[in-house]
Amino acid sequence: MKLEELERASSAARSRGAQTVVVVGLGFVGTAVAANLSRVDGRRAFFVIGLDRDDEAGRAKAASLDRGEPPCFADDPALATTLRAAAESPRNIAGTVDLDALAQADLVVVCINLDLVREPGQVQRLSCAVDGCAAVLREIGRRIRPGTLVSVESTLPLGASDVKLYPALCLGAREAGRDVDADPPLYAYCYERVMPGPKYLESVNSYWRAFAGIDERSAESARRFLERIVDTDRFPLWRHKQVRAAEMAKLLENTYRAVNIALVDEWARLAEAAGVDLFDVIASIRLRRGTHDNLMSPGLGVGGYCLTKDALLAAWGAEELLAVEAALPFARQAILTNERMPLRAFEALEAHFQGQTSGKRVALLGVTYRPEVADTRSSPSEILARRLLSAGATVLPWDPLVARWEELPLLAMAPSAAQALEGADAAVICIPDRAWTPWLAALLAGRLAPGALVVDPWNLAADALAPHVASGRLSLFVYGRGDLRGPSAP
Ligand SMILES: NC(=O)c1ccc[n+]([C@@H]2O[C@H](COP(=O)([O-])OP(=O)(O)OC[C@H]3O[C@@H](n4cnc5c(N)ncnc54)[C@H](O)[C@@H]3O)[C@@H](O)[C@H]2O)c1
Repeated sequence: MKLEELERASSAARSRGAQTVVVVGLGFVGTAVAANLSRVDGRRAFFVIGLDRDDEAGRAKAASLDRGEPPCFADDPALATTLRAAAESPRNIAGTVDLDALAQADLVVVCINLDLVREPGQVQRLSCAVDGCAAVLREIGRRIRPGTLVSVESTLPLGASDVKLYPALCLGAREAGRDVDADPPLYAYCYERVMPGPKYLESVNSYWRAFAGIDERSAESARRFLERIVDTDRFPLWRHKQVRAAEMAKLLENTYRAVNIALVDEWARLAEAAGVDLFDVIASIRLRRGTHDNLMSPGLGVGGYCLTKDALLAAWGAEELLAVEAALPFARQAILTNERMPLRAFEALEAHFQGQTSGKRVALLGVTYRPEVADTRSSPSEILARRLLSAGATVLPWDPLVARWEELPLLAMAPSAAQALEGADAAVICIPDRAWTPWLAALLAGRLAPGALVVDPWNLAADALAPHVASGRLSLFVYGRGDLRGPSAP
């Protein structure tokens, strides 16, 4: 929408009692946040403006939202239907790349990405472009009216809010001629816990949310906002004492998950060496509800935008922004361990092909980082595919949700699982999609070349494949299933 139209639509919304919210960053999080805001109180509460960068990708996302279409694809049909309804007259959603739209805001919600940059295989030399995020806050400060709450939902390095972002917001406000000592800008940190998958939209408003304000006014303003957009009867809010505590909470909860996964990988190796079925072990331990029921299972690895970086954002922020020591050995080791997990599949292939993986055709079933999510960022399949390609193998990827693999665009996606598997020398089940269970084992046995290796890191098809393994038709390697290999297996 053009700026003049936005101004008209926003003032029309104001005259019927609605507030204007500008959502900055229309990625996976911003898409769900914008959609959720657009439906609050049956579309009467907010006029939602989605703002993205003025580059090709950002313009395309803003244009999608403006048409009432999700700027990012997530496998939740509710996103599309909600946004379509919001774009119908009288519309309460719009997209733009014009920063001046911020002048219309009664509330600003920041959902931009903060990438952690490092070379794979090491976790000491890190960088994060927090100054880029601070520059966004400065632009916001220059344009918003006094009394506008700026609520940041992006995952931040420890210390970012009070060391970088709030000072930048204040600087922008000063540049716009405001007396920030007399009337400080309102800033809250309300980290997002949106859960990718078929209940993506619901996870924004039907889940526990936490927040903190830079001062009391900001915290109260954030509380009032969250109470309108979250089902707080079922999911009461948690107010942190400081914005830094809220930053740490988000980083620790994702680090906890990453460490849990890394721990199980260590025990998967032990179970394989000791001839034990780790899935049997874990199923028994999980019966201890309340203390042990979230112990993870073995798998190909960890992917997505969050679990692969957040533990390191804590370390980077502590050291670079707060100048405090942050060895965090568990956190750093978890990231390294998880990053290496997909390479265990490569090692199994190398062992099977006796070091002659070059020229072999390897099918990868699933290239996203989890079932029912179309997000391919940092997927374990990517690590495995790159390793296979560097070894000279032919990689045959298939994924029901991915037509083009953004990170590896030269690899053509197979149109079906059957076509990926046809005559292949090996297959790796890269995501644990239970919807595949009814047909997976038969397809693997029917399509792969005789003697092919199936790597099943999740134990998804192992039992169904047993007769084909027993007959010598296929070989099988399952992470953590030492019982299938025997204690003396390599
Ligand atoms: N993806 C998740 O499931 C999830 C869950 C919880 C928290 N988070 C956190 O939320 C944040 C966003 O994640 P995401 O997955 O949506 O990222 P994303 O990369 O999908 O989206 C970020 C969006 O911000 C836009 N952007 C970047 N700089 C901008 C600028 N200067 N002005 C306007 N727009 C700008 C980008 O163009 C992009 O559209 C991250 O900090 C992430 O760690 C993500």
